[in-house]
Amino acid sequence: MTHPQSELAPNLLALRALADFWTDMGLEEARALRTWRPPGAAAPRPAAPTRASAIARTPDMPAAPRSAPRKLNNNPINDARRLAAQANSLAELRAIVEQYDGCPLKKAAKTTVVCDGAHNADIMIVGEAPGAEEDAHGLPFVGRAGQLLDRMLASIGLSRQENVYITNLIYWRPPGNRDPSPVEMQMCAPFLLRQIELKQPKLLLTAGKFATSAMLGKDDGIMKLRGRKLSYQQEGLAAIPCIPVLHPAYLLRRPEDKAKAWDDLRAIAKLCDELGIKRGPAL
Ligand code: URA
Repeated sequence: MTHPQSELAPNLLALRALADFWTDMGLEEARALRTWRPPGAAAPRPAAPTRASAIARTPDMPAAPRSAPRKLNNNPINDARRLAAQANSLAELRAIVEQYDGCPLKKAAKTTVVCDGAHNADIMIVGEAPGAEEDAHGLPFVGRAGQLLDRMLASIGLSRQENVYITNLIYWRPPGNRDPSPVEMQMCAPFLLRQIELKQPKLLLTAGKFATSAMLGKDDGIMKLRGRKLSYQQEGLAAIPCIPVLHPAYLLRRPEDKAKAWDDLRAIAKLCDELGIKRGPAL
């Protein structure tokens, strides 16, 4: 029996993601699953070269199912999708993420770091993953990079108390602050997508190259994309304006690039005004 490519590709990608997961977990037999194809099926499209374009691209990351399957299926990514779909508010979603045990990063982490900031904020910032300070406090961007982020936002009248909601691609600290793996990102992605659905922000900011590439599916490099008004697409939602910014942790290492960050902040302030997003007095 032959299957149309359009029906098979998402299933094959999900299968491969599962195989990656089990291979990461040490089950060598899972490697064979990575190349398996149903008899008669055309070769699938090559996997996206980016680590995380699956988050932004709908074929790789179908929308979370609306109805819960009757039985658990032992696939942590599907479980994440099913659980995320059950949340009807950001508070519910946070509780669900805290209970989710599918991501191996959780074992080494002290806390689950989901979000911070005003739930009714018009602006949503997506960073990469919690670091040591965030892991200790259970909140995103509270270490030195977070303090710089707060100062940057304050310089254009924005704050997490008033008009900014902050989250990350990943909800548990990767050991030693290593880069998150594609499978870890796929496990957390349903929770991020559901946050965006529930919040429907007027403006998205992606902090750093990881979040930018994951959210926008673009691999052009943060230096090329920063400060530009781009568009985030998610199935079922109207396009959301999105501006990538330099990650504050990068700016701590390269203070000479703060002038670029200031240009980007001015672009954000201008877009806020165009979109009718209220800003407080700039500090
Ligand atoms: N860097 C991030 O990307 N997110 C955090 O929460 C902290 C540091």
